[in-house]
Amino acid sequence: MSNNDQNTNQEHDPRDNEKGKSALARLIQGLWRSPLGVLGIAITTFSITLIMIGMIIDMLGLIKNPYASLVTYTALPALMLFGLFLIPLAIYLQRRKWRKYGMDRDQIIVNLSNPKHRLALVGFIVLTVVNVAIMAVISYEGYHFTDSPYFCGMVCHQVMAPEYTAYQRSAHSRVACVECHIGPGAEWYAKAKISGLRQVAAVLRNTYHRPIPAPVHELRPARDTCEQCHWPEKFHGKKIKRYVSFTNDDQTDPQITEIALHIGGQNPEKNVFEGIHWHVSQQVEVSYLAVDEKRTQIARVKVKRQDGTTDEFVKSDIEVPENEEQQWRVMDCIDCHNRPTHIYNMPEERVDFGLLSKKINPEIPGIREDSLQVITKEYASRAEAEESMISDLLFLQKERSAEQAAKYKEDIIKTGSFLLEAYLGNVWPDMDVKWGTYRDHLGHQYADEGYGCWRCHDEEHLNKSGETISQDCSLCHDEP
Ligand code: HEC
Ligand code: HEC
Ligand code: HEC
Ligand code: HEC
Ligand code: HEC
Repeated sequence: MSNNDQNTNQEHDPRDNEKGKSALARLIQGLWRSPLGVLGIAITTFSITLIMIGMIIDMLGLIKNPYASLVTYTALPALMLFGLFLIPLAIYLQRRKWRKYGMDRDQIIVNLSNPKHRLALVGFIVLTVVNVAIMAVISYEGYHFTDSPYFCGMVCHQVMAPEYTAYQRSAHSRVACVECHIGPGAEWYAKAKISGLRQVAAVLRNTYHRPIPAPVHELRPARDTCEQCHWPEKFHGKKIKRYVSFTNDDQTDPQITEIALHIGGQNPEKNVFEGIHWHVSQQVEVSYLAVDEKRTQIARVKVKRQDGTTDEFVKSDIEVPENEEQQWRVMDCIDCHNRPTHIYNMPEERVDFGLLSKKINPEIPGIREDSLQVITKEYASRAEAEESMISDLLFLQKERSAEQAAKYKEDIIKTGSFLLEAYLGNVWPDMDVKWGTYRDHLGHQYADEGYGCWRCHDEEHLNKSGETISQDCSLCHDEP
């Protein structure tokens, strides 16, 4: 635009129209002269540029930082929309101002035979298409990004660190968090994003629970999620499982227990469901009433069997709460597989693995006992554990025998770092996650504390004719 144009316009020359300047051209010029319009254009250009750079960095994997991605896919697009919004606002305000001076009563006419108009129109369409395309790519990327394990696990890194760490070493480490926590369908997607916002608020206000409570109440019925990948019709046969453990008295010869679990599922020969996965047959429904949050105290169990018969088993010494009906829950995968991916170890398990794999030298006298002592010590923070665990172990060993400690010094230090690694993979004092905070319901190792199959299979839940839910060892696995 020439100087001349500017002058005429600034003086609001009423002959402007007669000189062939259309309303459209003046509009565009007006935009450039309105500080608000320039700001809008600047913000839009600025954010688009940064988004492009951000996306390129992200796609090339140059920087892996969840906050950078968060900015690229949420903050910058919001800024871009704001900039885009300012532009029509500026035009509107400018036109109102002109109208006040008695100008611009004419309609905006787009005249396609006018080359300038054609150019403006093409420019407008191109810009719009580019903007829509960018927004589409961003929404798509943003959708995937906010659904990625990386986002779930890292953006709230302090809060989710325990879950993310345990997840990364599980069989599901390539299954996205959302596959289990949200699953397919728009309804659950919306629910999850809303509850996600609530969680973000709780994190910002620092009002979230430590440790994060399990079970998760908003967790979708597992059959909708797990069965996307696992189909119980196709489980069958037995699974051999081997347990190796040591004792403080014998660090070298392991005790070995082998069991053959009756995995069960659909038996293709007899066409019935059997074994452990009988509970999740389509024709069977097991529901139960637990009286505590962790579902360790099960007062009643109802069952609908394949042959259509029903039964109710009652454990009379557990008191049932007032609002009974809401507490009933139909048993699904996560009543047994409550820790399919956030699997934490127990200290004995790690120490025995260390002895077995010789990461802990079993020749060192008393090393199992001392290892268990340092690994279960309540350090105030992970940093404190990092600082003192190895020297704590050296100290304990020196107390036993200074001579031995000197002889095995190197191995003791190696043991210390192995233990530290195990500790760091399982304990987060600031999140109140300690050894055994989250337990598994799969077997009956911790039956005394109310975990596992024996919550129901305890011979204490009776039906009307006095029968129980069996604890016969050969029901679930061949006898060890
Ligand atoms: C294979 C399915 C699955 C995947 C994948 C998964 N989760 Fe979970 N998650 C569960 C189940 C089931 C529970 C409920 C545990 C319970 O009831 O004891 C749970 C519980 C949680 C809890 C509550 C605290 C706890 O430990 O019980 C958090 C937080 C959580 N998950 C976060 C995540 C994050 C973050 C990811 C991805 C990095 C993820 N989950 C991936 C199945 C899954
Ligand atoms: C997106 C697919 C997917 C979903 C959803 C999924 N899983 Fe898996 N699951 C897998 C894969 C893949 C493996 C690993 C198979 C392997 O390593 O052989 C696996 C392994 C397992 C195993 C064997 C674990 C082991 O340590 O050997 C169990 C048990 C299991 N899943 C249970 C569940 C449960 C319960 C849910 C629902 C809460 C679930 N899965 C949801 C894909 C999935
Ligand atoms: C009554 C408890 C129970 C229920 C309910 C249950 N499971 Fe299992 N499941 C087990 C046990 C026990 C094992 C063997 C665990 C082990 O290997 O330590 C197992 C093993 C598995 C395996 C590994 C199979 C293999 O051959 O290695 C998968 C996959 C699995 N379950 C998926 C599911 C899914 C999906 C559901 C829900 C539809 C489900 N389970 C419901 C108890 C259960
Ligand atoms: C919520 C209660 C409950 C829990 C927890 C539970 N069961 Fe059961 N289970 C039942 C009931 C009820 C029956 C059927 C009893 C009947 O029909 O009389 C049953 C039956 C069985 C059967 C026989 C199935 C058949 O072929 O008829 C097996 C095997 C079994 N359970 C294994 C397990 C294992 C393994 C676990 C733990 C991983 C477990 N159960 C946890 C309630 C439970
Ligand atoms: C309701 C099913 C069920 C019954 C009944 C049952 N078990 Fe088990 N048991 C399991 C399951 C499931 C596991 C595997 C747990 C896991 O995945 O680690 C297991 C694991 C074991 C283990 C190896 C783990 C450990 O603690 O060392 C032993 C030993 C064992 N059972 C012994 C027995 C004996 C003895 C009986 C009879 C009194 C019995 N079980 C009855 C389901 C059952």
